[in-house]
Amino acid sequence: MKKINSEKLFKEAQQVMVGGVNSPVRSFKAVGGNPLIIDYGRGSKIYDVDGNAYTDYCLAWGAAILGHAHRNVVLAARKRVNKGIGFGATTKPEIEIAQYITKCIPSIELIRFVNSGTEATMSAVRLARGFTRKNIVVKFDGCYHGHFDDFLIKAGSGVATLSQSSSLGIPQSHIDTTVSLPYNNTSVLAETLERFKKDIACVIIEPVAGNMGVIPAQKEFLKTLRDLTRKYGILLIFDEIITGFRSFPGGLQSEVDIYPDLTCLGKIIGGGFPVGAYGGRKDIMECLAPLGGVYQAGTFSGNPIVMRAGLATLKFLTKSFYENLNQKSEQFVVALNNFFTENKISAHILSYKSMFSLRFSKESVYNYSQAQAASNADLYKSLFRHLLAQEIYWPPADLETSFISGVHTKMDLDGLKRAIQDFFIQNRNSFQHLRKELIHEKII
Ligand SMILES: Cc1ncc(COP(=O)(O)O)c(C=O)c1O
Repeated sequence: MKKINSEKLFKEAQQVMVGGVNSPVRSFKAVGGNPLIIDYGRGSKIYDVDGNAYTDYCLAWGAAILGHAHRNVVLAARKRVNKGIGFGATTKPEIEIAQYITKCIPSIELIRFVNSGTEATMSAVRLARGFTRKNIVVKFDGCYHGHFDDFLIKAGSGVATLSQSSSLGIPQSHIDTTVSLPYNNTSVLAETLERFKKDIACVIIEPVAGNMGVIPAQKEFLKTLRDLTRKYGILLIFDEIITGFRSFPGGLQSEVDIYPDLTCLGKIIGGGFPVGAYGGRKDIMECLAPLGGVYQAGTFSGNPIVMRAGLATLKFLTKSFYENLNQKSEQFVVALNNFFTENKISAHILSYKSMFSLRFSKESVYNYSQAQAASNADLYKSLFRHLLAQEIYWPPADLETSFISGVHTKMDLDGLKRAIQDFFIQNRNSFQHLRKELIHEKII
């Protein structure tokens, strides 16, 4: 695989950008080697600056649900760009996408667009504090809600690969007002909410965690969370920045029939452009300026090109689109899990519809400490490099989520399945269980 241009450009990048990247996990620190320098993407493939093609399961961290450079999205953006880039004033595309989203997700009565997921969660928490006049934020270990100070406590995603559990530069006062609890643990949740109810402004959760690998919250846990937050006058925020429009138009909340007070969105709703949004109950949202006293603003918020690309994406996400996407994802996951079981390999794929991640253990994983126990940095690194050599790109860090798009073909998915199977067969010495089984079966 030729890498001359990529290597040259990465050297240049390191001279002028911190670590040569603009977001830490892109640096490949966890998996070694130089990061990809992408030239362009088409459908399920991305192409680096040396012309190498890779089937992409990272998909802009879940944003590219239609694959790359989808015709409708490109056309919508191109058409709108001719009218001017942005005005810092209201445009029709903002209103139209707001109408569309509020119709799809009825718990969002009013919405505010921002420019990233971090901005959405950070603003939603400020709003919750302003509305309730309380300060404490409860989150869950291993959930990631962006890089806002109050969230970088036992956070997942890229932070999980750093040696520190949090980040330098966070004032103690922020740490003091954030409580992080184990995911899917109803008794600890109930105890904490009961004990601190007078001071807790909100609980924020990824209803399917995607930043400690995939871990769906158990329905009973979410139900208790909803009941208790309601009982104690605590706002419930669903961070649906990954799950929003990923497997159902109404978000994860409609699938489980549990509705938060506020919802954060991002990724898919921008069609691949930078975006975030938060919205929810009218009485809460009306506390935002200009109607209320909680301030939040943005020069680029609701940019018309982003809104047009986002709406073109959302309109493509029909019932049959999701049926097809969810079905092919399930077939892929079932086939791989059968392979692991049949070969007695201590690994499994944990998935939610078209989100999936590999666990180096047989046992199911329900929280962050189990996710960490089922992770294996060295094996993940070898697997990542093995896949890259087979022209497959997936997240360059364990404890991230891979995604399948509407345009991934059976051939793409079979290719990934085969590459993973080959890896486990080739590395059989690392897997005692597999080795014993293969000897028994007279395969080796
Ligand atoms: C669940 C979740 N919330 C928030 C964020 C932050 O979004 P952004 O990176 O757009 O700031 C992410 C990013 O991956 C995320 O996965």
